[in-house]
Order: sequence, then structure tokens, then C-alpha cells
Amino acid sequence: MPYPLVFSGGFGQSARHPFTPLAIRCLITAGPTREFFDPVRFVSNPSTGKMGFAIAAAARAAGWTVDLVAGPVALPEPAGVMLYPVVTAEEMLRQTDALFGPCDVLIMTAAVSDWRPKVVHPQKLKKDGAGLTVEFEPVPDILATLAQRRRPDQLLVGFAAETENVEANALAKLDRKGIDLVAANSVAGPDGAFGNEMNRLILLGRDGFRQPLGPATKAAVAAQLIAALAARLAAPTR
Ligand code: C5P
Repeated sequence: MPYPLVFSGGFGQSARHPFTPLAIRCLITAGPTREFFDPVRFVSNPSTGKMGFAIAAAARAAGWTVDLVAGPVALPEPAGVMLYPVVTAEEMLRQTDALFGPCDVLIMTAAVSDWRPKVVHPQKLKKDGAGLTVEFEPVPDILATLAQRRRPDQLLVGFAAETENVEANALAKLDRKGIDLVAANSVAGPDGAFGNEMNRLILLGRDGFRQPLGPATKAAVAAQLIAALAARLAAPTR
């Protein structure tokens, strides 16, 4: 399928009016990753990908061009979106890395598995009645890796799934990962974000920017998030 034509912006714009993309290309990650330690067993998390898919649909509805890199989820492909299925954090890193250059906005909603087994056994491990010890190593931080080679005109948005001190922990990620905005998301208790139809986010920026989104359906929160990002992209300075 041919790529849609993207006008990369900046043409005829003076220094007083810094870069504002004319047609916005957005890269979104969604869902969990799976880290296998034998062909039939893996470590993962309860992310369903609903929030990321809702954001992809909202971005498309706003007229943006959307690349969606998704871990294993059971969701229909949003219309008009280029979907890139991946399984592991390493695959997600490679796929987002390949799509990052032309994107104006990166929204990392994926619940990347933070550790992967050090050893992946090629055959199914046999049960012998004994326990099993699996040694883990950290996976690469996709957002932090991409942020190292970002252009200043790109807008980088992370998600912070927290069970306590939601805003403080989310704010700490802005510096640690080198991103512009973080959507703080409580995943504590039965009302937490994982798998729920409803969500509430607090969008936080380095400059003190703070905007609550929701509580509302994930589709409505996604539309609010895209509207907030569109406003920031249109602002003369950010
Ligand atoms: O460090 P933490 O997992 O709390 O950060 C969450 C944010 O970082 C999310 O946007 C998530 O998609 C992203 N992330 C990542 N690579 C990882 C872990 C998280 O890009 N290995």
C-alpha cells in the first residue's frame, strides 16, 4: 500500500513562526509486549491496547496520518490506520525506530514489558515437579532511545501507568525519558485503566502544563488528548 503524501511543513515559514506541521503524521504504540522464555510461555501484563487504539482512531478522525505499532491485542484494526503488529519489546523498538523519522507526534501508550528472560529455551520446558527460576534482564526503553535522536519539532508523549503518587511519578518520567508530555494514568484498584472502558488522564508538561482529561470513555478521553496535542502543535512556542 503506498504511503499517504505528507507535507512535512515548514515551507515558507519565517523564524517568527516556528515549525507547525501542515499535515500531522502520528506514531502510536499500543498494547502489551510478550517476552518468551520457551516457545509456549511468556511474561507480559494486562494491557488490552484499548487506550492506544482509541487514540489512533481519534487521531485519524482529526485528519492525522497514523502509524500504529501494536503488541498482541484482540481489537479490530482502526479504519484508515497503518497497523504494524509486533510481539516483543525488541520488535516494538525496531518497528517504532523505523517509523520515527517522519513522525510529528509520538504517543507511546504501549505497556512494554520491562524485563525479558535472559535465556529463551528453544524447546518447551518439561515439568518435573520442581520449581522454575527464570533470570530476567531489562528490555531497552523505547521512548528514551527514540528521544535521544529526536528533532526539536517532534512532540513526544509518554504514558505513566502508576499505582501510587501518580502525578509525581509521572512528572519524573519527563526528564528521565527526555519527552515533552506525559499522560498520568492510575492503574490502581478495580477502576484502574487496564481493560476498562472508562479512563481519566492528567496530561502534564515540563513547562507546568497540566490538563485533566476525562473521566469519560476511552474514546472520549482519546479525542480530548488529540485536541490538546493539536493545540500544542499549533502554539507558536512549545
Ligand atoms: O518507565 P515506565 O514504564 O513507567 O514508562 C512508561 C512510558 O515509557 C510509556 O510511555 C511506555 O510506553 C514507555 N516505555 C518504553 N519502553 C520501555 C518501557 C516503557 O517506551 N521499555
